[in-house]
Amino acid sequence: MVGSELRELFKLLGRPGLISFASGAPDADLFPVEALRGIMDDILCDPARARVALQYGVSEGYGPLRDLIAGKMTADGMRCEVENILIVNGAQQAVEFCSRLFLDPGAGVLVQNPSYLGALQAFRPWAPNYALLDWDGSAEPEAASCAMAYLMPRFHNPTGRHLDLQARMRVVSQARAWRLPVVEDDPYSELWFDGPPGPTLTAIDLDGKSMDEGRTIYCGSFAKTLAPGLRLGWLAAPRPLIERMTLFKQASDMHAGMLDQMAATDLLQGLPPDRMSAVRDRYRGRRDALVAALDRHLPPTIAWSRPEGGFFVLLTLPAGLDAAAIFPSAVEAGVAFAPGGSFHARGGGANTIRLSFSALDPGLFDQGIARLAPVLGAFC
Ligand SMILES: Cc1ncc(COP(=O)(O)O)c(C=O)c1O
Repeated sequence: MVGSELRELFKLLGRPGLISFASGAPDADLFPVEALRGIMDDILCDPARARVALQYGVSEGYGPLRDLIAGKMTADGMRCEVENILIVNGAQQAVEFCSRLFLDPGAGVLVQNPSYLGALQAFRPWAPNYALLDWDGSAEPEAASCAMAYLMPRFHNPTGRHLDLQARMRVVSQARAWRLPVVEDDPYSELWFDGPPGPTLTAIDLDGKSMDEGRTIYCGSFAKTLAPGLRLGWLAAPRPLIERMTLFKQASDMHAGMLDQMAATDLLQGLPPDRMSAVRDRYRGRRDALVAALDRHLPPTIAWSRPEGGFFVLLTLPAGLDAAAIFPSAVEAGVAFAPGGSFHARGGGANTIRLSFSALDPGLFDQGIARLAPVLGAFC
């Protein structure tokens, strides 16, 4: 495995006073700290529950949490039973398990371009051959012989864009024709800004049928809606695949932490129903503030995505520029970003920059972009 270029650049991020748009973490002020503290206290003060919470658990995950997820998925048009759900340590582990299930060395993987860096890192040991999917849902011809598709149709990392309904339907029907398993990574779907996110690829594929009859594997996460430190996510898939991936879970780390799973179950049942709307308002306000700052300061030679949800904006600088080479000058000027080259599966994209608006105080956005504009302007 090759060390990520980003990790090297991010060593510069310790500089005092730096305004950093680099981290893709959620806003820690939104973590349900008080509720979680009460719930964990309740669990640990009840001797019978404490024994379960601190004991080994089953690899499939805590039953009541699997139940809750199966109910939520079913309500979202993806008919699931508890046996279709495997609890994992975040969507990252879900994606990595899918790569183990479907890939052989040199296998083909259909991805969006750019794509999620963590997924590309998970696939790297297989040295895959990538085919690319366009925003209209059309794919390069090599997709027909791929072993797997890995897609984020709803609020994609790193652009915040989504595939429109027509594109989603096109992907599903092509995947059917090619007998291509589709891994749908969907951690941002509840963080929509301009309207609900529309159906998942999984729901389109199932069209009312049960999860056992589909060809998509759904990866969910509580990292963006509760807290990433809980390291909780899930896989939803036909039973035979869940059985295989449960063996991966057993071999990797046995199971997700029982205390965290039990606490998340109580938390999901106890949080106020309007909480997600407050979370969306917070991130929507930040998206608006960042886009306004970009409109105000950046020259017309730079284009950017207008995110419909999620955490990110992707800037595109004129062709030929290398954002990683500009990065040290930006840090010198007191602002940081994530150079976009690493997000591109087949190389290229060196002229792109990912800005995250999720965790930074929006009061700093204008100043941050005002620092960035002259640095980029000097190269553009
Ligand atoms: C698209 C995507 N998938 C998966 C993950 C990892 O999520 P988790 O923290 O649940 O492992 C992230 C985190 O940033 C992400 O952006």
